[in-house]
Amino acid sequence: MGTTGLKEKIVLFRELFFGRFSLALRVLLAHSAVKCFLESSTWNDMDKLVIRGGTPLLGTVRISGAKNAALPCMAAALLTEDTVILENIPQVRDIETTRRLLSAMGAEVELGYGRAHHRTTIQTRNLAAPEASYELVKTMRASTLVLGPLLARCGRARVSLPGGCAIGARPIDLHIKGLERLGAKITQDHGYVEATADRLRGAEIVFDKITVTGTEDLLMAAALAEGETLMQNCACEPEVADLADLLNKMGAHIEGAGSSTIRVQGVTRLSGTKHRIIPDRIEAGTFIIAAALTGGDVKVTNCDPEHLTAIVQKLQEAGVKTSHNADSIRVMGDNPLKAADVNTEEYPGFPTDMQAQYMVVATQAQGTSIVTENIFENRFMHAQELVRMGANIRIEGRRAIVRGKTPLSAAAVLASDLRASASLVLAALVADGETIIDRVYHIDRGYEHIEEKLKGIGAEIRRIGEMFPKKAAAPNRG
Ligand code: UD1
Repeated sequence: MGTTGLKEKIVLFRELFFGRFSLALRVLLAHSAVKCFLESSTWNDMDKLVIRGGTPLLGTVRISGAKNAALPCMAAALLTEDTVILENIPQVRDIETTRRLLSAMGAEVELGYGRAHHRTTIQTRNLAAPEASYELVKTMRASTLVLGPLLARCGRARVSLPGGCAIGARPIDLHIKGLERLGAKITQDHGYVEATADRLRGAEIVFDKITVTGTEDLLMAAALAEGETLMQNCACEPEVADLADLLNKMGAHIEGAGSSTIRVQGVTRLSGTKHRIIPDRIEAGTFIIAAALTGGDVKVTNCDPEHLTAIVQKLQEAGVKTSHNADSIRVMGDNPLKAADVNTEEYPGFPTDMQAQYMVVATQAQGTSIVTENIFENRFMHAQELVRMGANIRIEGRRAIVRGKTPLSAAAVLASDLRASASLVLAALVADGETIIDRVYHIDRGYEHIEEKLKGIGAEIRRIGEMFPKKAAAPNRG
């Protein structure tokens, strides 16, 4: 349950039980109290965001821990029977899904937020059921990250194949090929990957294509394999390096994580440890764009500017003024925006997870920007919603041609995936009028309390829910 509307809830319930009202008024108050209760739920599947655009954002916003680093680190806790304590875990829906996933296997997972410093404690004494069911994998593709750890720890794993998702096919063939190189026997049956191995053996693995979770999955498996594993053409994302940091604290011997070649000397046992998750560079990038778009002045704190180089450089090219120190970036959005082309690439290039948000910048920049998506084949779903708000965007295969500057006008829009929903929030912040964004459960997968953070820097945003929410809507992949 979120804190949104907590005060209203307390007042309503107090009035309801202790106020001197007639029966009719009491019934009316009860109705409002239930409505208020439901509306303040953080992860109501039927929630919508209502945003009135046009206010420059001013102030300071604190960035949460990186969801994409937290997910593999939680999976890594399966590699030991000792307790792993993870700090700076973001309070987002994908983390709750991972808690359910690990708990279903027999792990004890305690999520603590707020005063508990966003600390999660995981202990897996026994892995009674080394299995990731379709029910969980279909809602969060990253569930496949448990394949490597389960195989390394118990010698067997049964993990549902993720299938397609909103942004493309996203197979896991490279995870499977790599695990086979380490000696696993893998079959596919009834939509599940079934893997067995006596003990994994170190090997040389060259990834055919750069894959982030593939690199992470193999890294966790290799940590407990016998002998040396040499991995080449690895993903260099900071989230991979963060996972390696955690594994090394647990007793692994990993060198080179964060570069394209990683060397792992396998060990027989890993132990418990405490680790702090790195800040979320995508959340930081999203707030930097929010400030720039609205012509605001915002200090984005608790971030790592080094991880944001490609994003900040591209925004500077588009006319955004920024300055930074060790762990914060200040954005001064008083310059007019100008067109700048962008190509998504693996780290340290411009991240695909910022492409949708950048497209909103392109709609507000003078001139024509070409946005090229090189990582996923179908990641322009947000474009059609932006066009409904007045943007001039033409899609040609992997390229989006955006002509600006076009004024955006408020509309009812539909979020299709996590980052697409962030782009709609950004568009709404500069649109004329009140935009209603439906299916915001996508945004709750990866942004912690987005409306509270935006409200804190002056945005006019509120969350509304259905009085009697129906059962969960379409699967929220991404
Ligand atoms: C991760 C991120 C996601 C980000 C993406 C690219 C997490 C939890 N998610 O996703 O937010 O958008 O990196 O930066 O960290 N591929 C294959 N075979 C495989 C694996 C991948 O062909 O076995 C392809 C994919 O279809 C895609 C490309 O490789 O075209 C990159 O995908 P990958 O890096 O694996 O993305 P994820 O790790 O799923």
